[in-house]
Amino acid sequence: MSDIESVLNETRVFPPSTEFASHANVPSLSAYQELCRQAQTDYTGFWKKQADEHILWHKPFTNVLDETTPPFFKWFDDGELNVSFNCLDRHLATQPDKAAIIFEADDGAVIHLNYRDLHTQVCQFANGLRSRGIKKGDCVVIYMPMRIEAVVAMQACARIGAIHSVVFGGFSAKSLHERIVDAGAVAVITADEQTRGGKNNPLKATVDSAIALGGADSVKSVIVYQHSGNKVPFDATKDIWWHTLITGQLSECEPEWVNAEHPLFTLYTSGSTGKPKGVQHSSAGYLLGTMVSMKWIFDYQANDVFWCTADVGWITGHSYVAYGPLAMGATQVIFEGVPTYPDAGRFWKIIQDHKVTTFYTAPTAIRSLIKLGPDLPEQYDLSSLRLLGSVGEPINPEAWMWYYQKIGQSRCPIVDTWWQTETGSHMIAPTPGAVALKPGSCTFPLPGIEMAVVDEAGDEVDNGKGGFLVIKRPFPSQIRTLWGDPERFKKAYFPEEIGRGKYYLAGDSAYRDNDGYFWIMGRIDDVLNVSGHRLGTMEIESALVASPLVAEAAVVGRPHEIKGESVVAFVVLKNDRPEGEEAIKIINELRNWVAKEIGPIAKPEEIRFGDNLPKTRSGKIMRRLLRTLAKGETITQDTSTLENPAILEQLK
Ligand code: WT7
Repeated sequence: MSDIESVLNETRVFPPSTEFASHANVPSLSAYQELCRQAQTDYTGFWKKQADEHILWHKPFTNVLDETTPPFFKWFDDGELNVSFNCLDRHLATQPDKAAIIFEADDGAVIHLNYRDLHTQVCQFANGLRSRGIKKGDCVVIYMPMRIEAVVAMQACARIGAIHSVVFGGFSAKSLHERIVDAGAVAVITADEQTRGGKNNPLKATVDSAIALGGADSVKSVIVYQHSGNKVPFDATKDIWWHTLITGQLSECEPEWVNAEHPLFTLYTSGSTGKPKGVQHSSAGYLLGTMVSMKWIFDYQANDVFWCTADVGWITGHSYVAYGPLAMGATQVIFEGVPTYPDAGRFWKIIQDHKVTTFYTAPTAIRSLIKLGPDLPEQYDLSSLRLLGSVGEPINPEAWMWYYQKIGQSRCPIVDTWWQTETGSHMIAPTPGAVALKPGSCTFPLPGIEMAVVDEAGDEVDNGKGGFLVIKRPFPSQIRTLWGDPERFKKAYFPEEIGRGKYYLAGDSAYRDNDGYFWIMGRIDDVLNVSGHRLGTMEIESALVASPLVAEAAVVGRPHEIKGESVVAFVVLKNDRPEGEEAIKIINELRNWVAKEIGPIAKPEEIRFGDNLPKTRSGKIMRRLLRTLAKGETITQDTSTLENPAILEQLK
C-alpha cells in the first residue's frame, strides 16, 4: 500500500501577497514556523497556552493532557467551562449589538440578529428544555432546517449540558430512527417542514415515522418549530410547539458548568460498512480546535463577514457555523436554501448583498456551479471577498483555478482544509498569510498538529511516495470515542495492522512533495492497482476535469485478468450527455487526454457518461457503488444515504 504512486504533476505556486500578509494573524512563514517550533519543543505547554488564551474557564485546569489509557486521551481534564457561555455571554459586555447572524431564507428574506438577542433566544429555549426535564448528560436529537433556530437549539443544549446529535434534514425516517435509537435520545427538536429551492419537505412527519419504527421509547418530547405553518400531525402527549415552550421563559439561563471532557455532542458518520458511527466530541478540546483554526486558517478579523455554506447536519456546520464563529465573536451568514435556486448565481449574489469577506464551501458545489453557470460570477460584485476556503474532498487543480480567478479574482488566497468529522477542526491547511499555495494541495499541518505519511509498519515514507495519512500525537479537538462502542473506536482509528496501533489512522492515502507539502490522494479503500502501479483516484479524476469538456469525474478500478485492475471513469460533461457517434468521439478524446496528462497506465479502459454522479448528501462521490456498476453487478449495498439514487440506473 505504501507504494502508491503519484502521477499528478502540478507546478503552479501562489505566494501570499504582501497586502494580505501584512494584516494576517500569522503574517509570515517564519511566524508559522515559530508556532510549530514552540509546539514541538513543549507540546503540552503550547496547548496549555492556547487553552488559557482562548477559553473562558469557570474553573481553571491543571492537567493538560492525560495519556494514561491510550487511545482514550483527555485534555484539560480537571477544568470546568460552558461552551455556550464561551460563544455568547463573553460578547455581551464588549459587542452586544454586533450582528452574530445574518440569516437569508430560501425566499430571500433577511434577518439580522445581534449577540444580545441571540443570547436571549438561546437562554429562553434552554430554560424551555429544562422545563421538560432535560438535563446534563441527556441526549437530544436535532432534525432542523438550516435556520437560526438550528443554532439556537444546539447552543441551548450546550448551555444545559445536554449532548446534541444533529441529523441532517435530508436523511430518511430510517436513518433518523437508527440515530435516535443508538443515541438513546430523550427529545427530538424539529420543525413542521423545511424549505429548500422553493419546495417544502416534511420534517415533523418524518420524525413521527422514525419513532413509529419502534424502540424509541426514550423520546419523551418532540419540540416543533413552526416554520411553514402547514398542518402537521400533532400528539399533545409528547409534541410541543417551540413557541409554546419558550412562552414565559426568562431571558437569562445559568449555564451548566461541565467538565472539559463532558461530551458536547455526537455526530453520526457513515462507516463504509455497518451501522453509522456516533463520533463523540469533548467540550473544551473541541471548542479550542474551532477557535485556533478560525484564527490561523480563516485568519479571522473583527470586521469579517464569515460564510461557511455547510449545513449544521455536518461537522463543518458544527465547527464553522454553530461554534467557531460565535466563540470568536464573528458576524456570519447562514443560508437556508440551495446554491442553484432561483439560479446558479445565488451564492455570488449572497456574497455581494452581505459583503461576505470569507467564503467556505465544498469542491462539489464549485464544480456544479462551474457547469451550471461559468460566467455568472461576473454579474456580481465580489470585491468584499478576501479569503476563500474549500473542504470535503480534494479540490482538483482546474476547479481550484476557476475558484481562484473567477470568485477570488486572483486576489484571495484559497485555504484547502483537510480534516474529518473525527478531527473536529482543521488538521492540514495553509495559514494564508504565511504559506505559498499549490492548487490541489492542502499544504502543511496546523501548529501543534503532527501529521505523517507512513507505511504498514508505521514508518515514515520518503517524500514523493504515497502511504497512509496518520496523526502522530493526540490533539485537543479529536474524537474521544464512538458513542457506546469503545472497541469499534479502537479498531477503526488505531488498528494494529497499520502503524501497530501507535497513530490515529485517517483512512486517506497521501504523499508529501519535495517541499514537504501534503497532497491527499483519496480514501484508502479507493486506491487502484493497475499493472502493479498503485494509483489514487484523485489524480486521474483531476486529469479528466482538466479537460475543457469535463465538469466532474469519478474513477474506480475493475478487476482485470492481466493488469490486476483497469481504470473505469464515470464522467459528467459540461455539455449534455453525448450519445452514439458523438459519445465515441469524446471517449477517444478523453482517453488520449489522460494518456497525455498522466501516462498510458492511467488511460481509462472504459468511460461512461452521466448527467450526474452518485453522491452522499454531503456531496461525496460514492465510489464503492460505482465499483459495483463497473463490474456489471447489481447494487445490493445500502443506498439510503444517497442524494440522487436514480442516477445509478443511468450509469449501469
Ligand atoms: C474525509 C472526511 C472535513 C469536514 C467535511 C467532511 C475528505 C475532507 C479534504 C480536503 C482532500 C478531504 C477526506 C477525509 N476530505 N477535506 N481538503 N482535501 N480530502 O468530513 O465527512 O468526515 O470526511 O473527507 O477523505 O478523510 P467527513
